[in-house]
Amino acid sequence: MSKNIILCGFMGSGKTTIGHRLAVLLDRPFLDMDAYIEEQEGMTITEIFAQKGEEAFRRMETEACRTLSKEKNLIIGSGGGTVLREENAALLRENGVILLLDVPLWVLQKRLQYDTHRPLLQKPNREEIIRDLYHQRTPLYRSAADYRVHTKKTALQTAEFIARKFGNL
Ligand code: S3P
Repeated sequence: MSKNIILCGFMGSGKTTIGHRLAVLLDRPFLDMDAYIEEQEGMTITEIFAQKGEEAFRRMETEACRTLSKEKNLIIGSGGGTVLREENAALLRENGVILLLDVPLWVLQKRLQYDTHRPLLQKPNREEIIRDLYHQRTPLYRSAADYRVHTKKTALQTAEFIARKFGNL
């Protein structure tokens, strides 16, 4: 049994896409934290934000980290805000290695321009919101992560790189 591999990074950085590829390459289960929370709550992330608020969602994320920190062998796609709470990063690190998917701001702005399901982005000045969040969060991601992974190639090539470098931890 191996340590969990946790992918972190900004919304749109490819945590889910690369995570799926990586799980196939390493023949390990993939767990998407947003999907896990949605299943636990029986609500979508959008509904949770609208009906219970962001703080409640952040508490659910911490609970999910606590549960998942007891698991092994998983590939975990965290939410874009998960590792920003130090407590969450510490929990996830108990049994895992945290990798930051590093993606330039302009690429994220392009990928997220038509997004309809991320509550933090459903506002008219989306480019600015992404820019401000990116600048606030980048140092926090970097201090939470054990390693930074550049994602200039395809999702599969990035997954292959991660599998080679971190697949045997
Ligand atoms: C969030 C990112 C989302 C989701 C929620 C909040 C964030 O996950 O957890 O909308 O604070 O960055 P993805 O990064 O998977 O979109």
